Amino acid sequence: MKNKVIAIDGPAGAGKSTVAQLVAAGLEYIYIDTGAMYRAVAWKALRENDTVFLTDDFIIKTVKNMDVRLQYADKTTKVYVDGEDVSDHLRTPEVSKVVSQVAKLAPVREKMVFLQRKMAENGAVVMDGRDIGSNVLPNADVKIFLTASVEERAKRRFEQMMKKGYEVDLLKLKEDIENRDKADMERTISPLIKTSDAILLDTTSMSVRQVTDVILSLASK
Ligand code: C5P
Repeated sequence: MKNKVIAIDGPAGAGKSTVAQLVAAGLEYIYIDTGAMYRAVAWKALRENDTVFLTDDFIIKTVKNMDVRLQYADKTTKVYVDGEDVSDHLRTPEVSKVVSQVAKLAPVREKMVFLQRKMAENGAVVMDGRDIGSNVLPNADVKIFLTASVEERAKRRFEQMMKKGYEVDLLKLKEDIENRDKADMERTISPLIKTSDAILLDTTSMSVRQVTDVILSLASK
């Protein structure tokens, strides 16, 4: 089978990364978590910031002076910022809160999209995010728009965070997800949209296995 490119987009907490990793493992492809790249920029900006709010200028200065690398091995993605493994610091509530502000800035997106296209140039890749099918890899062989009700997405995120030992409030989490989706859908550059050639998968009542199997079967055509 040809080395295909599979793009999975969708709102926060839809299960994109879980499913994308299983699809990548099933096809022996690499998995690229583009959300982790935007989170890495947010993480570095937060670490270096010494004022109450992050300004757009500060974020732009940060992204210009940083090196972001993804390494996918043994079915796990590691994210390096300036050589430091920051993988375990990217899914905190603090990073989630500012990541959409970071991701709406043109210099941030230009740098990340350049790196993403480079990582996908040889195919055999599953990439997930918000603008993969619409902008990063518009010629992808399979385009999926993965979604689920906001209640279900908040519940899944809640369970994920609890497992990792974070104290979280379900209603607050739902509100944060709604705010992030709104920011991602309403931004000017590469907003989250479902392209007309993407296949919509509403996973509210589907298991991870079912969703994975649907995508694997689309990829085999
Ligand atoms: O996928 P994840 O929830 O980790 O993404 C974090 C944030 O990164 C999103 O809310 C969005 O603001 C940004 N993002 C993006 N474009 C992508 C992937 C993520 O703008 N391709």
